[in-house]
Amino acid sequence: MAFKSLDDLLAEGVDGRHVLVRSDFNVPLDDDGNITDPGRINASLPTIEALVEGGAKVILSAHLGRPKGEVNEKYSLAPVAEALSEALGQFVALAGDVTGEDAHERANGLSEGDVMLIENVRFDPRETSKDEAERAEFAAELAALAADDGAFVSDGFGVVHRAQASVYDVAKLLPAYAGKLVQSELEVLSTVAQNPEHPYVVVLGGAKVSDKLGVIEALADKADKVIIGGGMCYTMLAAQGYNVQKSLLQEDQLDDCKSLLERFGDKLVLPVDLVAASEFAADADNKVVELDGIPEGWMSLDIGPKSVEAFAEVLASSKTVFWNGPMGVFEMEAFAQGTAGVAQAIIDATANNGSFTVVGGGDSAASVRTLGLDEAGFSHISTGGGASLEFLEGKTLPGVEVLES
Ligand code: 3PG
Repeated sequence: MAFKSLDDLLAEGVDGRHVLVRSDFNVPLDDDGNITDPGRINASLPTIEALVEGGAKVILSAHLGRPKGEVNEKYSLAPVAEALSEALGQFVALAGDVTGEDAHERANGLSEGDVMLIENVRFDPRETSKDEAERAEFAAELAALAADDGAFVSDGFGVVHRAQASVYDVAKLLPAYAGKLVQSELEVLSTVAQNPEHPYVVVLGGAKVSDKLGVIEALADKADKVIIGGGMCYTMLAAQGYNVQKSLLQEDQLDDCKSLLERFGDKLVLPVDLVAASEFAADADNKVVELDGIPEGWMSLDIGPKSVEAFAEVLASSKTVFWNGPMGVFEMEAFAQGTAGVAQAIIDATANNGSFTVVGGGDSAASVRTLGLDEAGFSHISTGGGASLEFLEGKTLPGVEVLES
């Protein structure tokens, strides 16, 4: 990959220079605004620490959630600034705006080795605008924070699949470098994308089958088996003729699921039993059922124990595994067994079969930590959900491509 890296920037020298860093601090929060999984914050530290060490004036930018171009306290980066201050052992000030007066004043006032954070870039509608000119205007305001001698470091791997102002357009306006996280993620994922040792098993879960149909199609070509669980499996099961009752179903995707089953049927591995629940609630009545046994009006919220066993058998002989998306509603204890069981089977494949195992992003990475599993048991835990999937599908990642040009 032909782009300049953080090491190149450090070799050029950052002492006293403003460096604008795009990180991915899109972390899950509970109802009280507490961070429930700081994985992405921790993964961003090596780049920030290297810049601090080099004497840079560090300006961090990031998004949180999807505030749709409006200032919304619920999506403020305040909890992130606090967590960063603690993790770095130095105060990280949060600007009261994104590219406004406060952000500029604070950026101008930085000393060597200081770190600040601007507010959620998605508070500004131009960040995600489809209009290039609008995005360019916002990107120019972001670049101006880094003053004349500034540089841009792209380190938000989880967001490099988005052609957004703070990720893509700003990289055209400042000397741009890939941060340590982006670089290491790309190195690991390139191995899986280009040269996976076989058997190569992909495990897909998560809510929406529509988001993943293209992924199934692209990966079923490359992988030996594609295991499908989580909310997305019910549309597949319905396409096979099962009555999934009130389970998550995307009826408009049924035909596409049928044709995928016809084309790749022998590669796709679906659940053989389920955990049905009377309602979507942690304390709902629940029981393990066969595929055709979901009681009327109930819904399935997890894969069952026989499915875990069947999936584990496929995983046990794997040499490469890529896992994206939980198998059930793991946030509720009664429906966490499927995700925990599959995660454990992947850990076992790593230890017992020397399988190279990668956890792709967001929810699956959070589930590993939430369920108290051994993070070190996997070969790599990616911070990018959508980004790692798109990379493995062979799509161009705008935030990476712009660094190469
Ligand atoms: C993620 O959580 O996958 C990234 O932060 C990207 O967020 P987005 O899907 O809202 O663009």
